[in-house]
Amino acid sequence: MRTQEQGMPEPLEILDGGAAIALTFPGRGRRRFHAIWLRDNAWDEATRAPGNGQKLIALRDIAAATHISAATREADRLQVTFQPENRTIAYDMRWLADHAYDHAEPRASGWTAPAIETWDAGLGARITLADFGTVSRHQAALGAWLHGVRRYGFGKLTGGPVESGALLRVAALFGYVRETNYGKHFEVRTEVNPSNLAFTGLGLQAHTDNPYRDPVPTLQILYCLENSAEGGENMVVDGFRAAERLREENPRGFELLTRYCARFEYAGGAGVCLRARRPMIELAPDGEMIGIRFNNRSAAAITDVPYDDMAGYYAAYRRLGEIIDDPAMEVTFKLVPGESFIVDNTRVLHARKGYSGAGSRWLQGCYADKDGLLSTLAAIETQQKEAAE
Ligand code: FE2
Repeated sequence: MRTQEQGMPEPLEILDGGAAIALTFPGRGRRRFHAIWLRDNAWDEATRAPGNGQKLIALRDIAAATHISAATREADRLQVTFQPENRTIAYDMRWLADHAYDHAEPRASGWTAPAIETWDAGLGARITLADFGTVSRHQAALGAWLHGVRRYGFGKLTGGPVESGALLRVAALFGYVRETNYGKHFEVRTEVNPSNLAFTGLGLQAHTDNPYRDPVPTLQILYCLENSAEGGENMVVDGFRAAERLREENPRGFELLTRYCARFEYAGGAGVCLRARRPMIELAPDGEMIGIRFNNRSAAAITDVPYDDMAGYYAAYRRLGEIIDDPAMEVTFKLVPGESFIVDNTRVLHARKGYSGAGSRWLQGCYADKDGLLSTLAAIETQQKEAAE
């Protein structure tokens, strides 16, 4: 093990004839970086535009034989000289520490990002809850609420205006509405001849919306304008937690639902025929869980599972539904007029209990994009971090 006196530069080693460099970071240990990676990630003015940080060169502008001929380290800066360009470029050591990739922690299939936390009925007081007026006026309150939405895939707002279209103001807090064939927003109340079962008084099994779209709407907002009917409570279920439970009980079943695509379809309106082919549990190539699609109403015939795996696939599909239906998984609440909730529609399933004809129930719903929400949150976090420094 290396030891360094305080104030002395940390050691660096040029490896493999300049193909890589090893740096030691206090508290983090030794991390190797390839010469080609460093050169591609240079922040000098010839590589990245000073104003917007966009890259000015393509990989083709960097020689394949790029290697390191010299390197020196002083405090927070690393100077690296690259050949055959014979250019010396400075790096911020903190940036390198934050972007080091030399770690090989094995990750189980279905791991989730550190910024999120899965939950069940025990979510309780940790529900992301804020006042509409407060998050509209105060950026710190908005940041805290968006942070909760990112973490739990779900958040509630109270105290909003009781007026048609107010849900668009919720979307405007962080981004933009995603318009679909259902319009900019849609009405959720009893219809005599519904075009979609969502518009009746029937209870609905917990589901993600619109899995027949590609890409799916990544956020849904439901906003309450009237709710005096018997029943009609909303509930949410963390699909990631449901998938984790399935994986613990039945790893093979989990794998089948991630490996094969289901098919979803909606052709309930004139001129509309939406189809998508995607897995019910979607993993990134490195096994990160990134999406759940579960919706019995729009499930189409599954034709991408080989005969020998179909029985196991159906058993896993059934079990995932049972887990989703388990009351130990659900968080239930009844909205009052002016209240709304948002779900990450790639993760959190929503449902409503049946309601009777007595009284009235009127919700409005719309879709929005999660990248916009995450962008607004990241910008607020950056600003807060800069203000604290
Ligand atoms: Fe829905």
